[in-house]
Order: sequence, then C-alpha cells, then structure tokens
Amino acid sequence: MSFTVAIDGPAAAGKGTISKAVAAHFGLAHLDTGLLYRAVGRRTLDGTDPVEAARSLTAEELEQGDLRTAEIAQAASKVAVIPEVRAALVDFQRSFALRAGGAVLDGRDIGTVICPEAEVKLFVTASPEVRAERRYLELADKGADVTRAQVLADVRERDARDAERSTAPMKPADDAVLLDTSDLSIEAALEKAIAVIQGKL
Ligand code: C5P
Repeated sequence: MSFTVAIDGPAAAGKGTISKAVAAHFGLAHLDTGLLYRAVGRRTLDGTDPVEAARSLTAEELEQGDLRTAEIAQAASKVAVIPEVRAALVDFQRSFALRAGGAVLDGRDIGTVICPEAEVKLFVTASPEVRAERRYLELADKGADVTRAQVLADVRERDARDAERSTAPMKPADDAVLLDTSDLSIEAALEKAIAVIQGKL
C-alpha cells in the first residue's frame, strides 16, 4: 500500500528541511520536485527549448551540479508557468509518489494537482521577510554575492509568479494542514509536522 505525504509552500518556508526530516523519521522516500523545474530551468539558460528540456529530463540530471542558485531559481519559476513543461513532469512525480513503502513529495502543487489523494497534506508558510532572511543566510553562507534587499525582491517576484500562474498555481489544498513557521524553530516546526503525519498513520 502506498502512503503519500504532500508538502507544499513558497520558497524558504522550511518545507525542504521538514520534508527531508519527516522522510527520514518515517522511513519514506523523498522527492524535492523543485529540482525538476530547476533542472529544466538550467537547461534553458543555454537556449534549450523548455518543453524539449522537460520531455527529455533524466533522473541523473537532478543530481548534477548545483541547482540551488538564485539564477536557476528564477529560470525554474519561468519554465514552471508553461503547461506543457508541467505536463511532461507529472508521470515521474506520480510514480515516485506511489512507490512501495511510501513517499514524501515537496513542491507547490503536490496536494492540489500531482497527488490530490495524498494521505497527508501540509502547506508550510512563513512571512516573506522571514523567508528572505533565511534564504539570504543560506546564499551568503555559500559565498554568493547578494544583498538582503535583492533576496527579498527575488522571493516576492517568485511568489507572485508561482501563485498567479493559471496552470497549477501554488495554493493550499482544501484539506491541507497549514503550518506557519515564521515564529518557529526548525525543531518546533518539525515536531508539528511529525505530529500531523503520525495522526494519519
Ligand atoms: O522549491 P524550489 O524553490 O526549488 O522551486 C523552484 C521553482 O520551481 C519554484 O519557484 C516554482 O516556480 C517551481 N515549482 C513548481 N512546482 C513544484 C515545484 C517547484 O512550479 N511542484
């Protein structure tokens, strides 16, 4: 029997960290679906057609090089508005979700479009300022040459593009549990997420 945990939310809300940790805690496989869009976005930087890139994407590409740069994040959110790009990535995500032993998928449209039947749905949010500060510290730690103001502007731009697109916009599923991490430590947020999942097992 499959057991799917869908975790959605905007950038730097903590969903990546929470997803990885709950997957480890419950012994589930984990897929960060943002990596799919990032890998497609990276390919478009050298002029490749995004739909072509999405249709020919391989699992190995998700592990090649650093996909977590600000430039690739912007490229990802641009290709993510294209319905044919999203359609080309559906099967891979759904088969991952249905694998034996269960899975955690995190992204923007997992609970609404990819896995509407997921046993658990979480929507992890935090204020744009808190998210921008977290992302800034992450990027600065990697030695990136960015300012707080730039990161906040980037976060707001990406939020708007993700929430306002017509195909699979970022939004909580009607039956999602909301988890606002603005005033929570990682440990406290994780504890809450684990409690929600435990309640559905
Ligand atoms: O989560 P991450 O920041 O890595 O995602 C990069 C971009 O990919 C997002 O801004 C969003 O535009 C897109 N994305 C999406 N649907 C998903 C996951 C990511 O549209 N399920």
